[in-house]
Amino acid sequence: MRLTIPTILTTLSLFSFSLAQNCAPYTKSPLFHLKLSSSNDVRLNNSILVSSHSGPPYRQLVPTNWYKDTYGQDFIPAENSTRFFFNSSSTGGSYPCPGNSIGWELGDSSGIADSGLQFRTSRVSNIWVAYLYPGPGDVAVGFDENEKMYLWENGIKWYRWFVCKTVWGGSYRFESLVWVVGGKGPDDEGCKAVDVLREWV
Ligand SMILES: *[C@@H]1O[C@H](CO)[C@@H](O)[C@H](O)[C@H]1NC(C)=O
Ligand SMILES: *[C@@H]1O[C@H](CO)[C@@H](O)[C@H](O)[C@H]1NC(C)=O
Ligand SMILES: *[C@@H]1O[C@H](CO)[C@@H](O)[C@H](O)[C@H]1NC(C)=O
Repeated sequence: MRLTIPTILTTLSLFSFSLAQNCAPYTKSPLFHLKLSSSNDVRLNNSILVSSHSGPPYRQLVPTNWYKDTYGQDFIPAENSTRFFFNSSSTGGSYPCPGNSIGWELGDSSGIADSGLQFRTSRVSNIWVAYLYPGPGDVAVGFDENEKMYLWENGIKWYRWFVCKTVWGGSYRFESLVWVVGGKGPDDEGCKAVDVLREWV
């Protein structure tokens, strides 16, 4: 039989329909901390990330020690701001099911609004700032056997997390978690390479 264009289109749409039907439900894991590990920066090593507002409802992931450095005092963040969850499905990341990602529960007067992980992309810098924004995350991540968070793309686990000085909206100047695009290292030499570890609370 010769396949006509309409036959091919019908076959394709039936195919994607049946795949869409096969996405398993997404579930939220118990909560965990995201702890940094650095082999060459004692200051960042073992610091946990805190969801810090950079113009609501945007939140950056800031190492707790940033506050110590900046204000010279111990900073004990609200426990809620340091707890994240993994939103995953057994079919997450297999086309057309959205990838698995992490999120954070923003407790406010209207209840709990979940914020997912996104990147602020750039056309001129290879430093993409990680942030949380209400709604599902659109950065596919996972945790390996050593609890290290990786980015999942094209079936490969990538590890290019750094902590860099960032400027957000002109007035928020955190040192925060970023993703570095490409394999040649960050455009800003002041960035520090880190691993991001999941530590259950
Ligand atoms: C980082 O912390 C780990 C665990 O506490 C420790 O074994 C390691 O020596 C530390 N590395 C540095 C560079 O401080
Ligand atoms: C902290 O989390 C709890 C439980 O999820 C919630 O009831 C509470 O409103 C949160 N508090 C803040 C300040 O976000
Ligand atoms: C989990 O991920 C799915 C797929 O992206 C999304 O539809 C859902 O809103 C997410 N849920 C949470 C709690 O992040």
